[in-house]
Parts: sequence; structure tokens; C-alpha cells
Amino acid sequence: MKFFVDTANIDEIRQAKEWGFCDGVTTNPSLVVKEGKVFKDVVKEICKLVDPAPVSAEAISPDLENMVKEARAVAAWAKNVVVKIPMTEAGLQAVRLLAKDGIACNVTLVFSVNQALLAAKAGAAYVSPFVGRLDDVGEDGMALIADIMQVFKQYNFKTQVIVASVRNTAHVTRAALLGAHVSTIPFSVIKQLFRHPLTDKGIERFNDDWKKLPESARKLIG
Ligand code: G3P
Repeated sequence: MKFFVDTANIDEIRQAKEWGFCDGVTTNPSLVVKEGKVFKDVVKEICKLVDPAPVSAEAISPDLENMVKEARAVAAWAKNVVVKIPMTEAGLQAVRLLAKDGIACNVTLVFSVNQALLAAKAGAAYVSPFVGRLDDVGEDGMALIADIMQVFKQYNFKTQVIVASVRNTAHVTRAALLGAHVSTIPFSVIKQLFRHPLTDKGIERFNDDWKKLPESARKLIG
């Protein structure tokens, strides 16, 4: 499973990349606003930092004509840009046109199997079902991932499933168990993936025990 970082924050992306856990980046308008920078500048900076890994950046206009214009402009910012397109009628028409020109699209705000199916049929490179937001309204976000994976496998779709709106480490585990292609993970959750209280406790105990050896017997180097 690929790990994308769900952020527009350069420092977080740089750190995830240094750890070796940045197979791509997803941004959305809310994440970009948090950074308080010019959209185009942020996206270009991220694309350069993670090149050749894919970076999703969202087209904003709701109507087909402007959406396609924006998507083409965004796609020209860097060769590793993936254009995020909202799951609407116009959005899927745009995906169809853009896919014909080889522009990779990530259909976002997907909340049902049927929406994922339509996006795949339209030629989306990725679909992004939002699991956390489904959990928020009392539905089971990960059950949707299981269903989409089954349908895509059944019909041999090439569209990759990005588990989005990941809120906790259990989402990541379940995504991996279901064979999702990608999880896009907030930086705070990536940090938590390293941790287990028994690991911390174990390190502490080993260190305490180690100090019981005389210093002359503790040499590792030289
Ligand atoms: O990038 C889209 C998605 O991951 C948003 O997550 O937490 O705002 O539902 P969230």
C-alpha cells in the first residue's frame, strides 16, 4: 500500500520523505488555506520536493468549461500533478475529457460504491472515498473501501483507491488489510504509526538493564 501524505505543509512532507514514507501527496482547498500561501506556489513547491511522486491539487470551478480549463492549467504546473476533481456530473465529464489527453485525475468526495464505479468508468486514475467523514455520520467508512475494492477487482478496473479522510491508525491497518492501493494520511497519524506503548516500555527497560553493565563492558564501537 502506498502512503500519501494528506497535507499542504512543506515541513511535514519533507519529514515524511526523510522517513521514507511519502509515496505521494494529496492537498485539498482546506489544507491549502491553512498554509496561507499562493495555491500555485505551494503546489509547485510540493511537486518539486517529491518528484516524481504524484501530488493531487484540486480544480475549484463547478462548471464543466471552467473546471477543464483549470484542470489543464494545474496539470501544466508540474509533470507529477494529479488533478483532483469533485464527484459531480460535470466533474466526471471533465475526467473523461482530461483522461483522453493523458491528464491523471483523482475523483474526490466519493461516498458510495456507485460514485466510485462511475469515476472508474469515466477514466479516473484515482478515486478518493472519505472514510472518516462517513464514520462521522454513523456509517462505516472502511466497509465502503471493502466494497469498492471488490467491485474494482471484479471488473479489473485500473483506477486506484485512495483511502482518504483517514483519522486514526486503525483506518490505515484496515486499508492495508483490504488491499487498498493508497492511504492518504495526515502527518499526525503517520507519526502515530511508529508508536506502541510496549515498544516505548521495552526500550526503557533495555536501557535501564544496559546501565547495569560496567561502563568498560558497554562499548559498542571501537
Ligand atoms: O484530502 C481529503 C481528506 O483526506 C480530508 O480529510 O479529515 O477533512 O475529512 P478530512
